[in-house]
Amino acid sequence: MSKIAILGFGTVGSGTVEVFCKNKSSYEKNIGKELDIKYILDIRDFPDSPYADKFVKNFDVIANDPEITVVAELIGGNTFAYDCVKRALEAGKSVVTSNKELVATKGAELLKIAREKNVSFFFEASVGGGIPIIRPLGQCLMSDEIISIAGILNGTTNYILTKMLKEGAEFSEVLAKAQELGYAERDPEADISGGDACRKICILASLIFGNHIYPEDVYTEGVTSITKEDAEYATDWGGVIKLIASACRIDDKKLEITVCPNFVPFESQLSGVDDVFNAILVRGEATGEVVFYGRGAGKYPTASAVVADILNALKSESKSLIWDAYRAGCVADYRKQKHRFYLRLMNTSRKNVKALFGEVAFLNRKNTPEGEIAFVTAEITREELDRKCENLDVKGKIQILDIT
Ligand code: HSE
Repeated sequence: MSKIAILGFGTVGSGTVEVFCKNKSSYEKNIGKELDIKYILDIRDFPDSPYADKFVKNFDVIANDPEITVVAELIGGNTFAYDCVKRALEAGKSVVTSNKELVATKGAELLKIAREKNVSFFFEASVGGGIPIIRPLGQCLMSDEIISIAGILNGTTNYILTKMLKEGAEFSEVLAKAQELGYAERDPEADISGGDACRKICILASLIFGNHIYPEDVYTEGVTSITKEDAEYATDWGGVIKLIASACRIDDKKLEITVCPNFVPFESQLSGVDDVFNAILVRGEATGEVVFYGRGAGKYPTASAVVADILNALKSESKSLIWDAYRAGCVADYRKQKHRFYLRLMNTSRKNVKALFGEVAFLNRKNTPEGEIAFVTAEITREELDRKCENLDVKGKIQILDIT
């Protein structure tokens, strides 16, 4: 008999218990032994829950119980959750988590402890909800040199952008709906500001490039400044606006890693990824392009990834992936990398734009107000772009996706 502890009975925690209990007998056949969720840790009381007898409030009970071999951390954050995960690993228990903040900030340290203790530390559910991405990247594609990765990694903002830009809904209404559907973080600021996507691209980049990448090193911009006007210009240009998280090898030593809205051309597979769906486009030297697509948030998709990790942790041959500690200078200065940009300006003229930016591609939309000019620049660094924009009335500034 293998016994499991679940930490946190929120959206993902309750989903995990439900999925596990529903399919328990087939899991037992697969693993070859009886399985049981012995404890659920939560500070709240759930007297009417069918699992009421399993609830505990003190993590010591779990840490000190030698019968517990796998702990699923579904609390979130990196304070209490970090203490629990570290203690569980140090006590020789495998840990699985959906907590991207924890993995993005403490991943290298926790993976090292797991390795030293010869236990597993898995986090498939931390990126892409129900999409298998961590294990495919760390195992199936490990033979290849990954050149770039670009994706829609936040379900909430993709849902918001889809409803706002395609269906004309209001930002606050759609955000409330995303919260109701269980897509958004407890504090949705992390979704809207790009912080959640940033943590996820840090995890993927650490895995692929082999050194821990910290969120504070990543240029991160959210979705709050995107307008319907910009979306109309994106259509004229031949694409859509998406929040894109990307990491791209510049040379052997450095990578460019950013999270920001992008104009995504219709030819890109990322352009048709709508609602809560996520997609991750990986380009390998030998493999070429591989795309992972599926539901990026929500109770059951995320829970299914957690349960799969629990089952993998129970198989004794499954051990953690690994990456090294942070290496100074491994993230390139994003301001010095060249891209094309969309700009929407007021109170200027095409003549002024040409004088300042040289050859650009002007864009059109219906009922353009007097003095509004929109265009796409030639390749330019952000540093140079910002300098040229200093005395301009900029209403919209969005990068053009060049990883397609
Ligand atoms: N808030 C996250 C999202 C949940 O919307 O993608 C899944 O990580």
